[in-house]
Amino acid sequence: MCGIFGYVTNKEEALGPILIAAAERLTYRGYDSVGAATLNSGKIDLRKDVGKVDSVAAKYNIAEMRGQRGITQLRWATFGEPSQVNSQPHLDSNGDMVGAHNGNVVNNVELRLEFMAEGMTVRSQNDGETCVHAVERYISRGYEFIDAIRLAYGDLEGDYAFVIGRANDDKLYAFKKGSGMVIGIGDGFTCLSSDLPSILPLTREVIRPQDGEIVTLWADRVEVRSVKDGKIIQRIPETVTESMDAVQKGGYPHFMLKEIHEQAQVARELIHLLDGSPDVQPLVEKMKNARHLYLIGCGTSYHAAAVGSVYIAQLAGLTAIPVLAPQFIAQYAPAVGYEDVGIFVSQSGETKDVLNALEAAEKRGMACFGLANVVGSTLTKATSFCLPLCCGYEISVPATKTFTNQVVTFLYLAYRLAGKDTSELLRIPELMEQTIEMVGPQIEAIAKDINEWNDMYCLGYGATYPIALEGALKLKEITYAHCEGMLSTEFKHGPLSAVSKGFPIVFVAGPNDVPLIISGINEVKVRGARTITIAEEDARLRANGDDLVVIPKSDAQISALLGVLPLQLLSYHMSVLRGFDPDFPRNLSKTLTVD
Ligand code: G6P
Repeated sequence: MCGIFGYVTNKEEALGPILIAAAERLTYRGYDSVGAATLNSGKIDLRKDVGKVDSVAAKYNIAEMRGQRGITQLRWATFGEPSQVNSQPHLDSNGDMVGAHNGNVVNNVELRLEFMAEGMTVRSQNDGETCVHAVERYISRGYEFIDAIRLAYGDLEGDYAFVIGRANDDKLYAFKKGSGMVIGIGDGFTCLSSDLPSILPLTREVIRPQDGEIVTLWADRVEVRSVKDGKIIQRIPETVTESMDAVQKGGYPHFMLKEIHEQAQVARELIHLLDGSPDVQPLVEKMKNARHLYLIGCGTSYHAAAVGSVYIAQLAGLTAIPVLAPQFIAQYAPAVGYEDVGIFVSQSGETKDVLNALEAAEKRGMACFGLANVVGSTLTKATSFCLPLCCGYEISVPATKTFTNQVVTFLYLAYRLAGKDTSELLRIPELMEQTIEMVGPQIEAIAKDINEWNDMYCLGYGATYPIALEGALKLKEITYAHCEGMLSTEFKHGPLSAVSKGFPIVFVAGPNDVPLIISGINEVKVRGARTITIAEEDARLRANGDDLVVIPKSDAQISALLGVLPLQLLSYHMSVLRGFDPDFPRNLSKTLTVD
């Protein structure tokens, strides 16, 4: 998703390198265009285009940009195609102001028409420009700057964060609605950003503004005012103690590989946290007594919910309905009530589809709980309580450690629902470490062998069915190949016709499902497929298929969890072999705050 960053100092400085470095730190959110603006003594310097940070910075020599204030923005296209004119920041009609936003202004189209009718120069289709004109409208009507911003806030509908500066001024102004925003207070400067990691290297003194607040940033102080009445709100900065390690690659070539290797450690921390958490038992009671129990998420988080529903059925004999968040609204929300329980699952805690489903559920009085990684995210605040995933920052766009910790959480809850001893789960981290060690070189070799293919399938059954869906999603996300995840038994009902000589099909076989998977393997092998089976050591699988990728012995539930690790590694290696950056796949965004 787009990201913004602003910086205010007390004299003209070389801001280019600061803006480039901040933009680099925002790249994990996903983007297609980059822009930077500096403001100084009545002048605005604006440079922007489609492309990666390094290429746009080099093409426009952003490093040489100087000023007393600076703004940079990374855009992930929603309103208007990726193009130079739609890139942000944007100027007002006369070039006296410059601003940028992240998020989505949902009444963009209507407002643009109004602005054009009012005689403003509207250059792009982008809603970031709309935010600038929304302020300009009230300046032209004679309002003071801060009042113009307050009125603009009322006109701009949606979820966004916005920063604006005037050429003839020494401040930046910012506000947010729905989306996150963090203000940093440093030594001789202030800054703001869509998120914390991009300002952590600069300062640890932060203020997190709320919706309905306008922040004015000087070099040496910030002022927070209420949009409603313009009055000053006293806010004491907090000191952030989080470690910076998470936002550095720590010797790995990519964040994704680092995060894959972190999975055992974060699982260990999570299990200990859950053991000591007073929130678990009340949640377990609610789940047990629910009329209907829904596990709701999108993308990878939905796959974790789907694994969770199998665990809950297999271990506790209870039904939990896994559902994609937008479909929850259409299919279940009209019928839910206070007797029902929903667990909303999201790495970011900001996915709009999930928050929309939460809103629909809350309207009907459903008991809503969360499972999120980003502490302080909208989901963590909007649910009665939200279990943290304890993964630290996950920078790479494809989710890995947050997925496995979501699955571990559901396994933990299933154990508690079943009255099983959760100390058995303490073996998981070691088994994960062993898995990565055991499969590493073999997966790399398989990645090389099948890399020419742009069509693949991942098949599983029972708890490994959603694992196959997740593996297929990882492969799609970062290799750009078409890879479909499917229930293994469904493959014969149609997709079998796609099989040709060498066609790669990955099976993830749970220890109790071997005979069924062997049927599946033979059905495709006799038609020429190359089979890759991820499973515990088994002579029958070895005799029937091609490659057997052996994972450690455990049980049906833990085995499914371990089965995702080779799939993460396979997609990682194929992505790198294809020359792509697995951390930042084209067209995708880590945090999707739009419908
Ligand atoms: C985006 C990401 C996916 C992610 C999905 C849900 O589409 O690209 O990787 O699984 O959002 O994200 P969440 O933060 O709600 O888990």
